[in-house]
Amino acid sequence: MYTNLNNLLSKAEDLNYTIGAFNTHNLEMLPDIIRGAKEMGAPVIVQASAGTAEYIGYDVMVAVVKTMAEKYMVDVCLHLDHARNLEDIEKAIEAGFTSVMFDGSNLSFKENILKTKQVVEFAHERNVSVEGEIGTIGGTEEGISTTSDDILYTNPDDAVYFVEKTNVDALAVAIGTNHGQYRSKTEVNIPLLKKIYDKVNVPLVVHGGTGIKEEDYPDLINNGIRKFNVGTELNVRWNELVRKELDESKVNRSIRYNVIPGNTKVKDIVKEKIGLFMNLNTPLK
Ligand code: 13P
Repeated sequence: MYTNLNNLLSKAEDLNYTIGAFNTHNLEMLPDIIRGAKEMGAPVIVQASAGTAEYIGYDVMVAVVKTMAEKYMVDVCLHLDHARNLEDIEKAIEAGFTSVMFDGSNLSFKENILKTKQVVEFAHERNVSVEGEIGTIGGTEEGISTTSDDILYTNPDDAVYFVEKTNVDALAVAIGTNHGQYRSKTEVNIPLLKKIYDKVNVPLVVHGGTGIKEEDYPDLINNGIRKFNVGTELNVRWNELVRKELDESKVNRSIRYNVIPGNTKVKDIVKEKIGLFMNLNTPLK
């Protein structure tokens, strides 16, 4: 089923697992994200930055994801990641995305609340879910970079207030993760996450999944992470394999042979992550 975030995340809370939210970087790798989920029998979130959605075409993304979700009978949510302006959000919703993130983390707390609330009202009238963010996640993504001096951990009381005032469906938390961290791993602040989970009653989202150690996945999931974003790892591995094919192949060979290894790698990573995200080693509460 082609569905919004709410439907997926509430089931994840009930059964204590997290849902992989995989950033596609082009149209080539997108179908393999959904095929990976289908092969694992799991729901999935396909997400794209406004830049990628613009490049592929918002409506093209909707057509592909919706068709595959219905034909393959997989639960898929199509989510706009880190939108900072309202025009991009409107474009995505009008095209048929089922979920959007408004990232007001660069604004003052008050502006972030007011703008997020405006997005929520617009989106909810159209059955579209909204992810908000408070605190600052480090790293660089789509040209937006945050230095370690700017990183602000999410304050649990602010998180409660933000959710209450905005009515967001999910909240991205800043607990030490960084976007784009593929050469090293990060130290996540699990005690802080626990405090946020104890107080906040919406599903929590972790960004910068590439830089998170696998051994930390169970602690993140057991403390309320219901949407787990992974982007850079797919991009880096796709580039590595496609670059190798391009270097080694003749220019008159069909281009598809060059991208298939990259797409297959994306599918393998998606399947491996989903296997871990199911959190099968932790008994249900
Ligand atoms: P990475 O690219 O670091 O995996 O983070 C993805 C993400 O958080 C998208 O918002």
